[in-house]
Amino acid sequence: MKILKGFSKLSSEEKRRLAVSSCADPEAAKEELESFIHPDPDIQQILEGISENTVSNYPLPYNVAPNFIVNGKQYMVPMVIEESSVVAAASSAARFWAARGGFHAQVESKTKVGQLHFLFAGDHNRLNAAMTEIEAFLLNYVAPVTRNMERRGGGIRQLQLKERSDILGNYFQLLATFDTIDAMGANFINSCLEEFAEGLKAFFKDTEDFHADDFEPLMAILSNYNDKCLVHVSASCKLEELEEATALLSARDFARRFVMAVRIAESDVYRATTHNKGIMNGVDAVILATGNDFRAIEAAAHAYAARSGQYRSLSTATIENGIFTISLKMPMALGTTGGLTRLHPLASRSLEILENPTASELMRIAGAAGLANNFAAVRSLTTTGIQSGHMRMHLSNIILQLKTTPEETEKIKARFEDKKVSYQAVVSYLEKLRTP
Ligand code: MEV
Repeated sequence: MKILKGFSKLSSEEKRRLAVSSCADPEAAKEELESFIHPDPDIQQILEGISENTVSNYPLPYNVAPNFIVNGKQYMVPMVIEESSVVAAASSAARFWAARGGFHAQVESKTKVGQLHFLFAGDHNRLNAAMTEIEAFLLNYVAPVTRNMERRGGGIRQLQLKERSDILGNYFQLLATFDTIDAMGANFINSCLEEFAEGLKAFFKDTEDFHADDFEPLMAILSNYNDKCLVHVSASCKLEELEEATALLSARDFARRFVMAVRIAESDVYRATTHNKGIMNGVDAVILATGNDFRAIEAAAHAYAARSGQYRSLSTATIENGIFTISLKMPMALGTTGGLTRLHPLASRSLEILENPTASELMRIAGAAGLANNFAAVRSLTTTGIQSGHMRMHLSNIILQLKTTPEETEKIKARFEDKKVSYQAVVSYLEKLRTP
């Protein structure tokens, strides 16, 4: 094994050459990587600035799902995703609910939290008693960092001291709550937290009964468990309005089966995980399209799904007084300013397509996309089964791979309309077609 030193200092060209050295045809591999480099050097520079050791770009389809009505406003929702059925499912559910009043969404709260983890070897009671004093000192100490955010209406909302010597001897947390307005705010939060560490050191040094040596800051970082940054989305209609949901069942039977499916996801972890994955299909696609951090949203969603001690469905479905309702409540810490949202040209374009939403509005839209995909998935599962739709998409992918003529495509589609799709079956049929 040869450890590469100074790799990050090499030119893009040299990095590419090294990256493909294990490929069967390194020259062809290098050319392929190069073919995905953006023709506009300014855009390429932006993309390379976002990351490190960039040797190419990795395109994913940029799609739109029309007809999303959220709180009475119509949106064309950009979705970046590689799974073929997701956009079709979102579009179909959006159109279905558009005819029934659309999605209703509220942001329940929008604050985010961060933690300064530290050890304190001094008198714990004295520390707890000094918290009001410490809070005033720290807020003043970090004022240069918070000034701009405060001007925009945000800032630090709360500071709490948590003694956690149950986890570790002398372990404390400073748990801070922030409002970052329309920014995701990760940099702001982390900067404040690191300043808190400096501030606490200064406080202990200059305050009677305290010693700076008793204080050992351990780490300062935001928490992705955004259980105070929640969106709640729902859609409802009269039972008889579900008639068009499926041709296979009566409206009442459809609703009954749908509610049972969600009930299972509320209690069974194997089903809940897949059910929530279906929600995240829609959410992540919007998050990616708008330059937000899908890993953060995923981590928060799953932690929130397990908040009762058991991992459960993030959505619910009910029938009450003849009204069918689906709803979704989940953390959604999103930004529409700062970070990648304005830096990446397509993230910025996505926001423009959405008519430049505030962070709260984007939370509502992403939540609606999650609920739309959840509705579409559970509808398929409890009616036709998921494979018929997936297989149609799978067939299109196979046709694409086989580079068929338009005539062959038509014949293949007709042939597999009511047959099981497999790559081999399509190849065999194509061979037959091509045999004179
Ligand atoms: C596939 O990407 C998502 C589903 O598995 C979701 C679900 O099962 O609810 C269809």
